[in-house]
Amino acid sequence: MLAIESSCDETAAAVIDDGPRLVTNVVHSQVASHARFGGVVPEVASREHVGRIADIVRSALEPVGGLDSIDAVAATGGPGLVGSLLVGMQFAKGLAMARRLPYLVVNHLEGHLSAALLAEQPPRYPYIALVVSGGHTQLYHVPAFGHYLLVGGTRDDAAGEAFDKVAKILGLGYPGGVRIEATSAGGDPTAVRLPRALPQKRSFDFSFSGLKTAAAELIRSHGGRLEGQLLADFCASVQEAIVDILTRKAVLAAQHVGARGVVLAGGVAANTRLRALLDERCRAAGLYSFAPPRALCTDNAAMIGAAGWVRLRRGERSAWDESARSRWPLGRIPLAVNA
Ligand code: KG4
Ligand code: ZN
Repeated sequence: MLAIESSCDETAAAVIDDGPRLVTNVVHSQVASHARFGGVVPEVASREHVGRIADIVRSALEPVGGLDSIDAVAATGGPGLVGSLLVGMQFAKGLAMARRLPYLVVNHLEGHLSAALLAEQPPRYPYIALVVSGGHTQLYHVPAFGHYLLVGGTRDDAAGEAFDKVAKILGLGYPGGVRIEATSAGGDPTAVRLPRALPQKRSFDFSFSGLKTAAAELIRSHGGRLEGQLLADFCASVQEAIVDILTRKAVLAAQHVGARGVVLAGGVAANTRLRALLDERCRAAGLYSFAPPRALCTDNAAMIGAAGWVRLRRGERSAWDESARSRWPLGRIPLAVNA
C-alpha cells in the first residue's frame, strides 16, 4: 500500500507491506518555510505540498520498484488544513484511478494511533490512548482497532499548542515543543512553580491556558527576556508541568476503565520527558506504556498506511467523492464503502 500524508506542514509518503510492516517512509518537513511566521501558514503549506508531492512519492516508491508493486493507495482525509489535505488526496486518487486500485481515506488521528501497529509487538487492547499533537490533546479508551471512546480532552489549548505558544513568547521559534525540550537540558524542573489545572481525580480533562498565562506573566516580570540558567529552568518547569498533568490523567483514565496500558501518539509523544514519566507512572500502577519510535510520532505517512492497511484488509474502500475535512473527530469514522 502506498500512503500519503499532507494534512499540515509535512509532505510524506510511505509504503506498507502486509503485517502491517513498514517498507519505506519519506517525510519532507516544511518547518523552514513556516519558521519565520512562528507557525504554519495554510497557503504556504498547500503550495509547498504541490511542489514536493511528486518527488516525495517517487522517493517512497523507488526502493520497491515503483508503482507496479502497489496494490492500494491511502491518503489522509482530515482533520487538517483543507487546502493541504486536498493535495495528498487528489494525488492519491489520481494514482488509484489510473491504476484501478482501491483507494482509502484515513483519519489523521487514527493514523497517529496506528503508528503502534508497526511495532514488532503492538500494544495489547484494551488501552488508553493519549493523543497529543499540535491540534489535539485527548484520552481515548480503545478496546479494539477502530473503536475510540473519548474519556477526556483539553478544554482549551492542545499540549503541543501550549509548548508552541510559550516558545513563541520566549522567542525560541517553531516548533516550540522541540525548542523547549532542547532548552530544558540542564534546567531544574522544580525551579519555577507553575499551575496544574484540573488535577481533580474524577475529571480526565485538561486545560493549558492557565499555564500559558502564568508563563507569559513570568516572562513579562523579567522584562520580556529570560536567559542562561533561568531560561533552562523555566523551560524545564514548563515541560514538567505539561507532562505531569498529561501522564497523571492518562494513568487515572487507564485505571478507571480497566485498561492494560497507555499508548502515546502524536507529535508531543516525541518528548523524552513525557515518555520517561509515563513509563515510570505506568509501571508504578501495574500498567504498560507504549510509545512509537520518535520518527513515527510526528506527522508521517507510515502511520496512515498502517491504519489504511487494516481497513483495506477488512474489505473497506473509500468513495471517490470523499471530501477533505478540517474537523473529523475520532469515534465518528463512517464505515467506508465495501467494494
Ligand atoms: O502530530 P504533529 O506532528 O502535527 C499535528 O498533527 O499537530 O504534532 C506537532 C506538535 C507541535 O505542537 C510540536 O511543538 C510538538 O508536536 N512536538 C513536541 C516535540 N516534537 C514535536 N512537543 C514536545 N516535545 C517534542 N520533542
Ligand atoms: Zn499529526
